[in-house]
Amino acid sequence: MSQRMTLIISPVFISETHLKNARSFSALFNNNNPLALEIGCGIGDFVVQIAARHPERNYIAIDIFNQGCRQTCSRIERSGLTNILMMRIEARYLMHHYLGKESLQAIYINCPDPWPKKRQRKRRLLNQDFLDLSLYCLQDNGELNFCTDFVDYGETAAELLSQDKRFKNLASTPYTHDLGSYPISKYMQRFLDLGQPIYLCRYHKKTALQIAQPNLRKGFRLRWPKESS
Ligand SMILES: C[S@@+](CC[C@H](N)C(=O)[O-])C[C@H]1O[C@@H](n2cnc3c(N)ncnc32)[C@H](O)[C@@H]1O
Repeated sequence: MSQRMTLIISPVFISETHLKNARSFSALFNNNNPLALEIGCGIGDFVVQIAARHPERNYIAIDIFNQGCRQTCSRIERSGLTNILMMRIEARYLMHHYLGKESLQAIYINCPDPWPKKRQRKRRLLNQDFLDLSLYCLQDNGELNFCTDFVDYGETAAELLSQDKRFKNLASTPYTHDLGSYPISKYMQRFLDLGQPIYLCRYHKKTALQIAQPNLRKGFRLRWPKESS
């Protein structure tokens, strides 16, 4: 599906060129606060809620959908929060090229595209390669938060995470439907309204691990040809 590309002009929108020139997220935020990443932020409702609760952390919200990026920027601007920046960029590309070793305190992935057909499942974001890349980017005790309404995706993610000994589980079961105080995103709310449970996995990276930088596999669209600003 093609998407209409419109220019995004917002003080909270960061192009790849802008990031390259600034050299680091600390320079963009103008402080050295810990960094968290929301992948596939949609319209930005989750990131605004979580960033308001944690002013001591900086948040990067990313998405590859242009209209979502635009709406996220407006929402961030309306919130008045200064600890969120938005990028239109693919998650693995950003993590591999710009985030680097132990750069993140938390990663959030809420209701990622489920790719429900069996032949499409290899396109899912959360797989063993993604866990390796996340472990490389997360600091000691850094959090990987994942939720989906899609049963098969939730069960597969929970199995992968609970079997990976480099993570410790924050809950007593591989996934939970009890969201506690976890902020609710637009898609989460949509599924909750339909009476569908959300599968939530919250895991921490164990300490003192040596994680080598994983190779970025070919075969996935890694970057966008045009920048918005
Ligand atoms: C189903 S929507 C969920 C949006 C939001 N997280 C929510 O829960 O309301 C999934 C979003 O992830 C984005 N997305 C999918 N793959 C991505 C990737 N590899 N990197 C960044 N964003 C991605 C899509 O463009 C879409 O906006």
